[in-house]
Amino acid sequence: MLRGLTRFGQLYDAAVTRFGGRAQPGTARDALRLDVVDRTEVADDVVSLRLGGPSLPPWQPGCHLDLHLPSGLRRQYSLCGDPADPTYRIAVRAVGAGSREVQALNIGDQVQVRGPRNAFPFAGVGPVLFVAGGIGITPILPMVHAATRAGLDWRLVYCGRSTKAMPFLDELPIGRVDVRIGRGGPLLADAQPGGAVYCCGPASMLDQVRGEFSGRWLHFERFGPPPIVGGRPFTVELGRGGVSLDVPADRSALDVIRDFRPSVAYSCRQGFCGTCEVGGVRICVDRPSGDRLVLEEL
Ligand SMILES: Cc1cc2nc3c(=O)[nH]c(=O)nc-3n(C[C@H](O)[C@H](O)[C@H](O)COP(=O)(O)OP(=O)(O)OC[C@H]3O[C@@H](n4cnc5c(N)ncnc54)[C@H](O)[C@@H]3O)c2cc1C
Ligand code: FES
Repeated sequence: MLRGLTRFGQLYDAAVTRFGGRAQPGTARDALRLDVVDRTEVADDVVSLRLGGPSLPPWQPGCHLDLHLPSGLRRQYSLCGDPADPTYRIAVRAVGAGSREVQALNIGDQVQVRGPRNAFPFAGVGPVLFVAGGIGITPILPMVHAATRAGLDWRLVYCGRSTKAMPFLDELPIGRVDVRIGRGGPLLADAQPGGAVYCCGPASMLDQVRGEFSGRWLHFERFGPPPIVGGRPFTVELGRGGVSLDVPADRSALDVIRDFRPSVAYSCRQGFCGTCEVGGVRICVDRPSGDRLVLEEL
């Protein structure tokens, strides 16, 4: 069985008001308003934040938070602390505007959060092989600790471009972790027949794991969109009779529209959060059956 993030729209409240192409800055409905209580640089380009507030909802390994940032951007971050802690911990790698805005938060700042939500649940049954690439360690780390507590037979393959770029190496139990610097070698050599594999990392790592996998239970999470396979080119029209843009087979309408109008709102880019929805169409994943898509509201 293959489990991954595909279309989790029904899990989410897709009602996101838009303001100048972004989710409207202000109060996100049902959001918790949490305080940044700790900020630590945990690796090159990676900052970890602890968020505190009264009676935080419980969470399980694999859960993520939806951060509604003061600018109106909305981004997901996996919980990577201990579910028994009274604070939530996230770790964020600097990529673009959203992650840099999160990294710029300081102790005492407030941030609006929705969740936790779990699209990558850990079944807690062994044997287990965990595979993580770089910042992909965040959802895997609480699973590793849960597997240790449960006495499961587990191994972790943790890959990165250098040890300095790999967060939380110092929190991993010694002896069961295969730290790999750079590319190379099979990733699933330690997978046990009949066991489960949990993987989070860059697209190239997920492709390799899927190529090597021959067992029953592969669970994975993507932090960004999957490559588009078998897409057909089409034209997207912004407003009836407005600008027409050509969407090639290997790009989404969202990516093409963002080249033209960078402020258009998006978040997960995988079809599950609803941020990019325009007239019922999730422009990060949906393609028309014909050769034209008219987005009257854009
Ligand atoms: C469930 C889930 C959990 C996550 N957990 C974590 C976590 O624990 N830690 C973490 O650091 N991140 C995590 N992420 C990723 C995170 O939500 C953000 O996507 C990430 O921080 C990048 O956001 P950004 O605004 O900084 O970058 P963006 O500006 O959104 O850019 C993101 C990427 O898209 C590319 N891009 C931008 N514009 C275009 C375009 N027009 N066409 C093609 N490509 C483009 C950029 O080059 C970049 O590689 C998670 C994502 C999901 C879905
Ligand atoms: S559904 Fe999340 S950005 Fe499109």
